[in-house]
Amino acid sequence: MRFALVGAGAIAALRKGAIEAAPGAQLGGVFDIDASKAVVLAGDAPVFATLAALTSSPAIDAVIVSTPPDTHAEIAVAAMNAGKHVLVEKPMANSLASCRTMLETSRELNRVLTVGFNHRYFPAVKALRHAVTSGEIGKLSYVRGFAGHTGLSEFKSAWMYSKDVMGGGALFDNGIHMIDLVHHIMGPVDKVYGKTVDDIWALDRVEDNGFALLSSESGVVGSLHASWSEWKGYHFYLEAYGSMGMARAYYAPMQSTIITMEKPGGRTKRKTNYYLPLIIEEKLRGWQSTAVRTLCEELVDFMNLCEGKPAGCIATAEDGFRSIEIAQAVYESNASDNAVSMMRDI
Ligand SMILES: NC(=O)c1ccc[n+]([C@@H]2O[C@H](COP(=O)([O-])OP(=O)(O)OC[C@H]3O[C@@H](n4cnc5c(N)ncnc54)[C@H](O)[C@@H]3O)[C@@H](O)[C@H]2O)c1
Repeated sequence: MRFALVGAGAIAALRKGAIEAAPGAQLGGVFDIDASKAVVLAGDAPVFATLAALTSSPAIDAVIVSTPPDTHAEIAVAAMNAGKHVLVEKPMANSLASCRTMLETSRELNRVLTVGFNHRYFPAVKALRHAVTSGEIGKLSYVRGFAGHTGLSEFKSAWMYSKDVMGGGALFDNGIHMIDLVHHIMGPVDKVYGKTVDDIWALDRVEDNGFALLSSESGVVGSLHASWSEWKGYHFYLEAYGSMGMARAYYAPMQSTIITMEKPGGRTKRKTNYYLPLIIEEKLRGWQSTAVRTLCEELVDFMNLCEGKPAGCIATAEDGFRSIEIAQAVYESNASDNAVSMMRDI
């Protein structure tokens, strides 16, 4: 499958690494509004002068949208209208209305549209998910997640904390991965209660910390916290608790722990995986090595999805839509002090 990259910034460089590593994938070209960046990233691949030139090229099968979120909808819709399948970075868009347009376009035109929730592919997260779906930890009771980094020092561009471009603060940034992961593990959410705080960085209309309590019709509870004031540096954890044990995924460094019991309160068995080869590779090559691995797995699932084959744990357009719906529900709940119901059908 021949992929075009729209946007030639930091994440696109990792996407290029994933395209080179994924069997069956090929870089078909690059477009960026800053042509000099496109030229550097493209290497031997073609550089397109305009988005229209890229989308109308018969040499491109699919488009990866790695631009700021306020541009995702326009680019993704243009690519789908031109017959391309699309993978768009997180957050899916900066508003639920834009996500709706993207989702409807993909349905109407029968084009694949997925959202870059590559944290689903972290081996510790996959181990946790397996412990839940295999029934190893019994009946799922609750899921708890945290994602944090140091905040403003992490950002190399002002758009990354602009309400108009991103759609929100910590919940739309690192938090959108955690919203997706909690949702991915607990299943459909029916109500959201949330709080935000913004007194640390005091930015314009964006929270530096967001908290959500989620419920599902089947009685599973989810809780999550997204932070831009985690002074210890970037890390996240995701935990799932069931009637017969618990599973924990932690990063960085990558680690998973699964504790199971013969019966509630009975003798426990503990399995911990430290993913040493991955940790050593990160020490030598940086965190990007793990990111490229996850992006490569995601790309293989994307190609399978385009061919109508089973597509692992890739995040669909519906998953992307739900993550933004949950983030926006936190804002609504924070303002009204009421729980917000999710749409039944989307
Ligand atoms: N999966 C992850 O964990 C992850 C990590 C980082 C960033 N992201 C997401 O990836 C996207 C890009 O982030 P980044 O860090 O690479 O940003 P970046 O600023 O490094 O790169 C963005 C690029 O897009 C280009 N651009 C802007 N508007 C454009 C347009 N209309 N058409 C074509 N090119 C355009 C810019 O010139 C720039 O080169 C964002 O949505 C961000 O949230 C995801």
